[in-house]
Amino acid sequence: MADTPNKLAQTLAALGVTEPAQIPALFTEVRERFDSQVSRPMDLQAWEILRQSWLGRKSGVLTQITDNWLKPATQELKRGVGQELNQLRAHVESKSEERRKSIESGAEETASARERVDLSLPGVIRPIGSHHLIRQVFQQIEDIFFSIGFSVVEGPEIETPYYNFEALNIPEFHPVRDDMDTFYLDLPKGATQPLLLRTHTSPMQIRTMEKRQPPVRVIVPGKVYRRDNPDATHSFIFHQVEGLAVDTDITFCGFTGTIEYFVKQFFGPGVNTRFRPSYFPFTEPSVEFDVSCPFCGGSGTGAGGGTCSKCKGAGWIELFGAGMVDPAVYGFVNYDPKKVTGFAFGIGIDRLAMLKYGIDDIQVFFQNDARFLRQFP
Ligand code: DAH
Repeated sequence: MADTPNKLAQTLAALGVTEPAQIPALFTEVRERFDSQVSRPMDLQAWEILRQSWLGRKSGVLTQITDNWLKPATQELKRGVGQELNQLRAHVESKSEERRKSIESGAEETASARERVDLSLPGVIRPIGSHHLIRQVFQQIEDIFFSIGFSVVEGPEIETPYYNFEALNIPEFHPVRDDMDTFYLDLPKGATQPLLLRTHTSPMQIRTMEKRQPPVRVIVPGKVYRRDNPDATHSFIFHQVEGLAVDTDITFCGFTGTIEYFVKQFFGPGVNTRFRPSYFPFTEPSVEFDVSCPFCGGSGTGAGGGTCSKCKGAGWIELFGAGMVDPAVYGFVNYDPKKVTGFAFGIGIDRLAMLKYGIDDIQVFFQNDARFLRQFP
């Protein structure tokens, strides 16, 4: 077939065709070539090129046959060549027309297929995110305190040592700073005081009392930072909810009752609370609240009869620090310690969430692993 073009450029005499009987084979070859070309996959543009190469007036295959085979043919061959040529032309014209139609309707079909909406297909599912467990626990705690008249305030994560320490009755060389003297910021030249990432939410006690007169009942959810090495129970970033209530008639009894109410609301009515003496510079007296172990019901005995692994057999789990606001703190905010009393507490949220949901590694809160997050929709 590769030699066909050459044949088209030559006269029949040159091709050695002298008998009418030789003519049909010659045309069969040409027709086969057309049939194979017209059945290839093509779009309308390719179809137009094909049509030109066969039917084009100047140099189409049929013109070449007319010029090179028909016109110079001997009288004896002319009739046969003419007949074959007419048949070939009719074939080429009808076949290529047929092909054009099928290409056009095919193109329409794909366009309409593209636009068709198939209502039986499943929809596109766009996954809806959910609140991180820490955020959910913040909300649970906020709801409990809202129900007893507290409101939420939030404060800066970058603090001055005055609010983070001094005004909370922690002077510069006080030993409790050892745990907390941590992330100080590089300061621009001319800065008047150092800045640090707050190590607790307690500074907001001071900022709130500076702005408001008693009665004050606020909670402060937020992030805090300490130079702790990461392990299953430590992270250099974690979360707290600070609480502060100051009024003219707040008693130690009202304080412990409030905390007990909160703990029972949070863990369920089956738990008990207790407090032990502790020390914080900004509360006096200071206490540490414990909850009866939610895993063993306070018995200290695990499910299999051995020691409860969560409370290590103690039956109690340490929850958070609290106390009655130290009168010295009122001095920093111009409250009259003779007239007002109050209590404060600082709850570690990560720890509370781990206890409530049985999570044994704090790091999972910060790893953004969807397999973990999905368990708390
Ligand atoms: N700020 C303390 C801490 O981060 C927690 C704390 C203890 C806060 C006692 C309080 C409190 O308000 O009364 O370790």
